[in-house]
Amino acid sequence: MKCTVCKGPAVIDLRRHNANFCPEHFTKFCRDQVTKAIDDHDMIAPGQRVLVAVSGGKDSLALWDLLVALGYEAEGMTIGLGIGDYSEASTAAAVAYAESRGLPLRRIDLRADYGYDIPTAAAVTRRVPCSSCGMSKRHLIDAAALEGGFDVVATGHNLDDEAAVLLGNVLHWQTEYLGRQVPALPARDGFPRKVKPLVRLSERETAAYCVLRGIDYIVEECPMAAGNRHLRYKEALNAIEAGSPGTKHAFYFEFLAKAAGHFQPEAAAAQDGLTACARCGAPTTGEVCAFCRLVERVEGADPVPVELVRSGRRR
Ligand code: AMP
Ligand code: FES
Ligand code: ZN
Ligand code: ZN
Repeated sequence: MKCTVCKGPAVIDLRRHNANFCPEHFTKFCRDQVTKAIDDHDMIAPGQRVLVAVSGGKDSLALWDLLVALGYEAEGMTIGLGIGDYSEASTAAAVAYAESRGLPLRRIDLRADYGYDIPTAAAVTRRVPCSSCGMSKRHLIDAAALEGGFDVVATGHNLDDEAAVLLGNVLHWQTEYLGRQVPALPARDGFPRKVKPLVRLSERETAAYCVLRGIDYIVEECPMAAGNRHLRYKEALNAIEAGSPGTKHAFYFEFLAKAAGHFQPEAAAAQDGLTACARCGAPTTGEVCAFCRLVERVEGADPVPVELVRSGRRR
């Protein structure tokens, strides 16, 4: 297998692009894809300060590395979710990367800073762990970005993630979510600007990028997500992609080009009439935001071990 660019030995084949790359040209390919995503969707303007949400997994570490390589001023932030060994290893990977590259990393720990963790929140609320997890992450990332005066928040969502979320939103015709499923979400009162510069790269590509760049990431997936709907949608799309390379890319990017705009009025309307949370000031539909209500609800609850809460088995 030869590199499509230089004819040297290739280390990866990308069927979707009908190309093979050597390490050097694969790294360049990843940078070019991120540059194109940033340009096409006006994600980050030169000189803007970026807060990168870092989980310790391949996507967000690749994202941070790529943004720094492209010359952006990108600071990291990581949230310890308290999901047993998984969270400890995730935080350790984020810290190790930051230290090895001399990059600034902000750290939040749910248990130490807010008195709860995700398994306990899931048990107390009797909801799937991913719902309190996603809500907590969104709230804390937004708050950190606003407090730190960042122009934009970047997350590591890749093409596989976005295509799977799109499939879920379409299967259930979640029109409000469809209107919000764009790779660059503008800032609105109380919400920072949010971008997903990895939307043109697949999971396999971000993993290969990390390996080639010597980035140690946590390979393990979240134990609480095992068997959830999102993973099933990913598997379904992978089966289609195997027979027709490029389908995922077309599904997502044709949606952005031809359909996303139709749902935007509905998504915008859903954000009308938000007021500031009486406790923390974050935008909310009620008097107190979902995050503050969760913190209050789980306060003082005995910690629940991860093993007792699994998304696939509860509900
Ligand atoms: P996930 O929801 O786990 O698929 O993660 C999507 C994106 O959210 C990641 O690529 C990160 O940018 C961000 N993220 C996930 N987990 C964390 C975390 N514990 N701390 C900070 N950011 C995170
Ligand atoms: Fe949020 Fe697993 S990372 S529930
Ligand atoms: Zn090459
Ligand atoms: Zn609040």
